[in-house]
Amino acid sequence: MGTDITNNLLAWYDRHARTLPWRTPPGSGATPDPYRVWLSEIMLQQTTVAAVKGYFERFTARWPTVDALAAADDAEVMAEWAGLGYYARARNLLACARTVAARGGFPETEAGLRTLPGIGPYTAAAVASIAFGQRAVVVDGNVERVMARVFDVTTPLPAARAEIYAHADALTPDERPGDYAQAVMDLGATVCTPRSPACVICPWREPCQARARGVQADRPVKLPKREVPQRRGVAYVGRREDGAWLLETRATDRMLGGMLGWPGSAWDRGEEHADPPAPGDWVTLNVEARHGFSHFGLTLKVLVARLPRDAEPRRGAFVPASDFRPGQLPTAMRRVLDVALTSPLITNPEWIVPD
Ligand code: ADE
Repeated sequence: MGTDITNNLLAWYDRHARTLPWRTPPGSGATPDPYRVWLSEIMLQQTTVAAVKGYFERFTARWPTVDALAAADDAEVMAEWAGLGYYARARNLLACARTVAARGGFPETEAGLRTLPGIGPYTAAAVASIAFGQRAVVVDGNVERVMARVFDVTTPLPAARAEIYAHADALTPDERPGDYAQAVMDLGATVCTPRSPACVICPWREPCQARARGVQADRPVKLPKREVPQRRGVAYVGRREDGAWLLETRATDRMLGGMLGWPGSAWDRGEEHADPPAPGDWVTLNVEARHGFSHFGLTLKVLVARLPRDAEPRRGAFVPASDFRPGQLPTAMRRVLDVALTSPLITNPEWIVPD
């Protein structure tokens, strides 16, 4: 399918496409590297282009091909992912890279792509259309908002999904489906933004039904959000007298699985308390660490202790100060460190005596 308004948008994209490191210029006929397209789509889930760019550059510099990523060390990939959030995606990323490397390349169809780890309907459609030029209906949050406005969809999300999909399907062209998908995404990200959309410069200002009625800022309609539940837990930041930090690699079946973290309670399973990871004089700090996950807010009580040279941890292992990279911690664990670093108990340079 595809219509006049589809062509209208493609013409806009030819002039205004954002230059992004995983793209080829619109209309150039050049097909982008499927590995880069797939990697960008996984990284962009739940995140913005601005947040992803640096991660994408570092990943592709270090692992330029899917074979290189497949051969990578799990812990190194998790460490590079730190800060992007949704760590199950990083574990699936590796599983997917290994499956693709073993079969000698990416499947080229939406159905084939759907069989891979971590690839859902959105990603399969995006990769099939952008990397392989297949007609596929790509619907992400941007596309939902744009469709809800252009067609003035009054059904609230998520019930409106089927209706929105039908509109997206009707506009998706057989030619240049990848450019079309990315054009709607760019429109949603730069013009048809959630708050105060820039209708005067929009290539779809004429056909837009919500704009004609002056209700564009109220589309899509959403059911009122339920309050985010809150959880509590505890985290222990222990530091040995030579400066080494007591850390553990989180079990892969847990939240933040495979990532580095501070020993503490299993807050992802509702446990607020845990015994200290090593004997010592643990002190509770009067500031707590907070982090918002997508489906709950977490508040962690932070305890710190200066541990003796001969400390024998019951869990975790000491990481020498020279090997510790705070950037490798997931955000929740970085917040714990931020709080812990306010305590002279573990930061006083006088007692930190390197080997
Ligand atoms: N968001 C998700 N995928 C994207 C892409 N390919 N281009 C721009 N924004 C995106």
